[in-house]
Parts: sequence; structure tokens; C-alpha cells
Amino acid sequence: MAIYSEERATYLWRNGSLVPWAEAVVHVGAVGHASVAGIFEGLKAYWNADQGQLYVFRMDDHYRRFLQSIKMTRFAFDYSLEDLGQATQELLQANEYRRDVYIRPYIFQEGLVRELLQAQPGKPVELVIDSWPFEAYRDPSTALDVCTSSWTRIADNVMPPRLKCFSNYHNGRLAAMEATVSGYDWPVLLDAQGKVTEGPGACLALVREGKVVTPPATASILESVTRDTVGCLVREVLGLPFVERTIDRTELYLAEEMFFMGTGWEIMPVASVDRIPLGTGAPGSVTARLRDAYASVVRGKDPRHPEWRTAVW
Ligand SMILES: Cc1ncc(COP(=O)(O)O)c(C=O)c1O
Repeated sequence: MAIYSEERATYLWRNGSLVPWAEAVVHVGAVGHASVAGIFEGLKAYWNADQGQLYVFRMDDHYRRFLQSIKMTRFAFDYSLEDLGQATQELLQANEYRRDVYIRPYIFQEGLVRELLQAQPGKPVELVIDSWPFEAYRDPSTALDVCTSSWTRIADNVMPPRLKCFSNYHNGRLAAMEATVSGYDWPVLLDAQGKVTEGPGACLALVREGKVVTPPATASILESVTRDTVGCLVREVLGLPFVERTIDRTELYLAEEMFFMGTGWEIMPVASVDRIPLGTGAPGSVTARLRDAYASVVRGKDPRHPEWRTAVW
């Protein structure tokens, strides 16, 4: 299954209007500034063929986090949660999606921001919402061979991972490239004290002695919407405890099961860490049940938590 999709939307949404995808350009001189100061989100919408409905999953929660990142970076931004939701609906309808879609909202400061890479008072911000057909990064019935990275996870007092800005992603990118050249599928990043944080683009959890355990929100992670969904499903559907606590590197080796969780990765099982196999080496039963529960709830096959799904049609 390919990670990179070449498929493009017909329209993207830019500063209040639908714009043909190919016509949405910025001046090349703005690229460096725009990428350093860019804030973004990643959402997914799921097609339910039986209901003839497309559901955006936890749209307000993603946009709440978007607004929090914008607040932390001191950009002046006038769009409300409702405006962002309406723009997203308009975009998905204009593209006539009747399939699973990834949605990428982002902002950057308009024009050429020459000297100072700071939010300039009064200078407008561009808001773009792009989207593309998307199913999954990897076949979720397989499992990943993972390494602990030699790159340290960025910290709250360096480049806060809670803030979803493009520039933060260089840290995970270095770790992912290191994993690839070393023959692993994906890395786990540790903090400066050697404690477990997350992967590039996904939080993680492990199963130890019948409990699902994940690092706390203060462990240099993005406050993940999927992590919150998983916490609810673990308690409500699986009837297991969901525990947030500091995790040591060696606990990864002793875990019965481990998985990544995120909007893009969904629930992705891990087979081994640093070549030490977890459990049987195949996706474990807790992870498999959770993956099924997640797949049902995002698509509205499981009617639980209707507040998580925004119908597009
Ligand atoms: C660094 C990082 N951690 C975790 C996540 C998972 O967050 P969410 O579940 O909100 O998609 C993401 C996904 O965007 C991410 O980029």
C-alpha cells in the first residue's frame, strides 16, 4: 500500500473561496517563511457506503487544537470553530467525495515576510484547506518492526510538540529516515531522559498485564485526538483500563502488544522493537479488537458517540 498518493482534489479552499487546485499558488520567495511559520491540522473523513454518507471524524476537536496552536504562535486569526467547520463541509461537497479523504488545513503569513520570522502584527494570514483521497499508510493487518531512535524528541521548552507546526516535523523526519536506512519500518522517539514519547506522526500505547498504557500529555507528544478516542474505546468497548504514565524504553521490550495511533496511521500494530519480538510477533488480540472498534466508530457503523461524526451530505 502506497504512503504517497498522487491524487489531487478538484478544489481547495483558500481564504474564503473554493479555488481550482492547480491555480492555488504562492510566490516562490515566500516558501521558506511560510514553512517555518506554518500551523496545520490533519483530519480524516470516512465514507459509509450503506448510509451513503461521508463523516468527518472529530472535526471540532481537530479545529480546537488548530486554534490552540494558532494562539500559542500569536497569529491574529479571525475564523471561528464554526467557520472552519463550514469551510470544510463546503470543500468536501465541492469535491464530491464519496470515499475516504484526508483533510489538511494550514495557515501561514501572507506575502514575503522578509527579516523577522515572527507573526507580524496586522499582516494577514492565509488559511488553506486541502484534501486528497486517502485510505491508510499501511495495511493494518500487518505489523511494524520498530526501532528506538538515536534522535531525541523535541521538548516543550525547545519546540513544543503540543504545537502542530510544520517546523516541528523535522525532528520526526530525521528519526523516520534513520529507521528506514537501518531497515526498520518506523521509529519511537525518546526524550532527553530516555523516556518514551511517540512516533513521527502518531502517539503510541502498549499492553502490559491487561492494561493499555500510554505516555501522558506532558511527555513531549502531540495531544492526539486518536489517543483520546482510543482511551474511550479501550474503556467502553474493550472494558480494559487505559493508563497514562511515564514509560521506560525497556518496557517496550516487555510489552505484550504495542500500537501506534493517529488520524493517518489509525491503529497500527507493532511486531518488534529493536528486533525484540513483542508477544507472538503477530498483531495481538487487544490491538486487533481496538482496530476493529475504531474502524466501526469512525465510519458510523457503530452508532456510539454520534458527536464525533459530522455528516457531509
Ligand atoms: C507528532 C504527532 N503525534 C501524534 C499524532 C496523532 O494525532 P491525531 O490522533 O490527533 O491525529 C500526530 C498526527 O497528526 C502527529 O503528527
